[in-house]
Amino acid sequence: MTAFPTLNGLLHTENVALADIARTYQTPTYVYSRQALTTAFEQFQSGLTGHDHLICFAVKANPSLAILNLFARLGAGFDIVSGGELARVLAAGGDPQKVVFSGVGKSHAEIHAALEAGIFCFNVESTNELQRIQQVAADMGKIAPVSLRVNPNVDAKTHPYISTGLKNNKFGVAFEDAHGLYKQAAQMPNIAVHGVDCHIGSQITELSPFLDALDKVLGLVDALATENIHIQHIDVGGGVGITYSDETPPDFKAYTAAIMQKLAGRQVKVLFEPGRALVGNAGVLLTKVEYLKPGETKNFAIVDAAMNDLMRPALYDAYHRISTIAPSAAPVQTYEVVGPVCESGDFLGHDRDLAIAEGDYLAIHSAGAYGMSMASNYNTRGRAAEVLVDGEQTHLIREREQIADLFKLERLLP
Ligand code: LLP
Repeated sequence: MTAFPTLNGLLHTENVALADIARTYQTPTYVYSRQALTTAFEQFQSGLTGHDHLICFAVKANPSLAILNLFARLGAGFDIVSGGELARVLAAGGDPQKVVFSGVGKSHAEIHAALEAGIFCFNVESTNELQRIQQVAADMGKIAPVSLRVNPNVDAKTHPYISTGLKNNKFGVAFEDAHGLYKQAAQMPNIAVHGVDCHIGSQITELSPFLDALDKVLGLVDALATENIHIQHIDVGGGVGITYSDETPPDFKAYTAAIMQKLAGRQVKVLFEPGRALVGNAGVLLTKVEYLKPGETKNFAIVDAAMNDLMRPALYDAYHRISTIAPSAAPVQTYEVVGPVCESGDFLGHDRDLAIAEGDYLAIHSAGAYGMSMASNYNTRGRAAEVLVDGEQTHLIREREQIADLFKLERLLP
């Protein structure tokens, strides 16, 4: 069921028409539905009743404080990849004891901050990182809980930029090396081996890559047990895809059931790191048509959102559905929907049939994940506002960035 239905010709979320949001907050503006976020989390969790589990929302998908706070209130943990994300989780009221720290380049300062906060686990991605964590923990007189992120060499069958579990990716510890590194970790005085972690990619629409990866991980867990290294939790990563156009990803029930079936009979906590699947279809980007520009071969709809607001089309050639938010008397025409940024790659959609006039608003759908989180200030454009709808109410959860904000850290030469 869509979180953005059309009622009496007007696109809504919950009890609010998006046209009202566009008028009140102007554009470009990201709009999220509290109910859609909550439902996604609860549906994901419902397949895990009775199992020891922790759902760690991947902060990078949408790091809005209000959204992190909402998930924290629902009991979520968080998957972070930087000291900045840790600070956000703490500022949003997240529980540090439910935080896992992934990423290939953890700095001294980040490791220090995570140990200070008392996170649940480091997902270690290399031998040298393990040694660095041992060192920092020793200096602080602490014990660092770790998992190794193993790279199972499984093809996630997704876009190469967002596939992470193949041998040639920079992520994780090569599967063949994991066993030896666990033995080393078990000997380190300030390291406590807690778990094993595996994340093979993003926007995965089939179950089999997840299950193939888990089979390999379980083989490793069993081999470690024979050496008296007991794994207490298995982190299966994130990566469950969503429907942007006609993809048919596994639903949460099928996904969690398949994972839990593989773990049947094992006394192990299971961790998940979903990002996109919890937020992607709970948000849209609202934008206004500035100009209609007929061309010799293409008609352009130039809108006030651009690649700096939503980078996915330009970066991955990603498809996002684009719709009007109110009826229009304009004739339907085929448009290139493009932004004002000075790059030919600045498009939001190709060949879209739309009935629009200048001044009309459009919704760019499935924009709740990796939308605002990847936004930039390219072309000295302030980042969009963010609004969260809750029933009849709208909350401005992030103000529109002002131009003066964009260069306030800069200095003229003396
Ligand atoms: N865990 C780790 C270690 C990750 O690297 C990621 C995403 C996730 C969890 C969450 O994955 P998800 O459930 O959202 O698929 N910017 C790209 C996606 C990059 C994903 C990076 N890692 C996009 O817009 O498609």
